Amino acid sequence: MSVKRPAAVIVLSAGEGTRMKSKLPKMLHEIGGRSMLGHVLEAARATDPEHTVVVLGHKREHFTEHLARVAPEASTAIQEEQNGTGHAVRMALEDLARQGLKLTGTAVLTCGDTPLLRGETLVGLIAEHEREGNAVTALSARVPDPHGYGRIVRDADGEFTEIVEQSDATPEQLAIDEINSGMYAFDAALLTEVVQRLSSDNAKGEEYITDVVGLLRGDGHRVGAWVADDWHEVQGVNNRAQLAEARRLLNDRLLHDLMLSGVTVVDPATTWVEAEVTIGRDTVVHPDTRLYGSTRIGEDAEVGPGADLRDTVVGDGAVVRQTTAEGAEIGAEADVGPYTYLRPGTRLAERAKAGAFVEVKNSNVGSGSKIPHLTYVGDADIGVGSNIGCSSVFVNYDGVDKSRSTIGDHVRIGSDNTIVAPVTVGDGAYSGAGAVVRDDVPPGALAVSEGHRQRNVEGWTLRKRPGTASAEAAEQAERRAGADADEQ
Ligand code: UD1
Ligand code: CA
Repeated sequence: MSVKRPAAVIVLSAGEGTRMKSKLPKMLHEIGGRSMLGHVLEAARATDPEHTVVVLGHKREHFTEHLARVAPEASTAIQEEQNGTGHAVRMALEDLARQGLKLTGTAVLTCGDTPLLRGETLVGLIAEHEREGNAVTALSARVPDPHGYGRIVRDADGEFTEIVEQSDATPEQLAIDEINSGMYAFDAALLTEVVQRLSSDNAKGEEYITDVVGLLRGDGHRVGAWVADDWHEVQGVNNRAQLAEARRLLNDRLLHDLMLSGVTVVDPATTWVEAEVTIGRDTVVHPDTRLYGSTRIGEDAEVGPGADLRDTVVGDGAVVRQTTAEGAEIGAEADVGPYTYLRPGTRLAERAKAGAFVEVKNSNVGSGSKIPHLTYVGDADIGVGSNIGCSSVFVNYDGVDKSRSTIGDHVRIGSDNTIVAPVTVGDGAYSGAGAVVRDDVPPGALAVSEGHRQRNVEGWTLRKRPGTASAEAAEQAERRAGADADEQ
């Protein structure tokens, strides 16, 4: 669908949102990896408006940094007192006028608390508005429970005549199940003129934007209401129960789109994805998996069960089971998990392996290198084709400074090694079991640390821990050994 570029999208976000019972403004609560306001602004972006204006009031200081990050194109207008939706729109238009901007063409109005709104729906609303040559087109919806919403009133011919608020409606009007979504397309020039004429002579004593419909119709202009296909899209979130409901619906929608694009989602009920996540074709997502933030997964990969990935890149054909990862890169055909923790700055090259009970942080692991079990790798650069033996620790922190370790190509680090940074192990080197590697190991050398050899201090427990259960057990064992010796 192609429509004319709207002159402006105005997003109302000045209300208090008291029912969230939160320190955070309602519009900044998150679902699917974006604030509710962020979702609305993303939908607005699809219409390619010349201006985006967010009207702020309550707790507006919370929005500054957020808006700069998610919608640097948006400007803000301040509504000092929340005197109603019509008053808020007037503040936005007066702010634009102060900047010398006189809007012509279409102006779109939305609220900041409808996170399920899609860009296509706003484009559809503008198309309908243009097609019908309306002065205002309200986006409406048929809902199972219209309570609390403004109702779309139509005459005997089905012609839209006005919007009546819940608190001002007659019993017959309250029975109407077509509601006003709070989103509209306006003729911008007519809107600018008519908002000057809004009265606050109503149950709430506020300037209602909804009164614009009756006023413009009274002036002889065409007004219309366009029914949304999916009423969930226009559902406002007022409390945290509705927030959870919207989050579930958004998740269902994202998973549905992924499945239609060629991703197998084994159990949508226990799989969570966020709006920015991408997954390639023929990838299988197993149950109980959560993919967050900017996570990108390639094709033919297997993720889960039980994967928790945030801002993580997974290459084609990789397998990632029972893993928590954040800010990590997992190469093509790499093998990760189960019970693996990849922290920020971890880069596993193609065909690398990080196995069970392995934690990796801020490290590069070269292609085909393996860290199969029970190991911590921090601040290390490991070359290609190397193997880190079971139960090794990269000691990267001396209590003051962090240092890096370098392990070359085709190195074999023995089991239970302690690699004390800063240290370099050359290509093709080996180390023995239990080595404590403090000094650089030349290429091709075997590192053994004799100082680590076992020494038994006889009778230590009895002397140093008298009276303990250990001392008692040791004493009894000695007595038994003595008796055995006497018998022989
Ligand atoms: C409004 C509509 C109602 C519609 C409903 C849809 C009016 C008079 N009524 O009612 O027909 O069914 O939305 O959700 O418009 N806001 C401001 N400044 C204000 C007042 C509100 O910015 O002074 C913002 C709020 O932050 C919110 C939006 O406008 O984003 C809607 O305000 P709200 O008070 O929720 O309006 P409703 O009474 O629900
Ligand atoms: Ca509302």
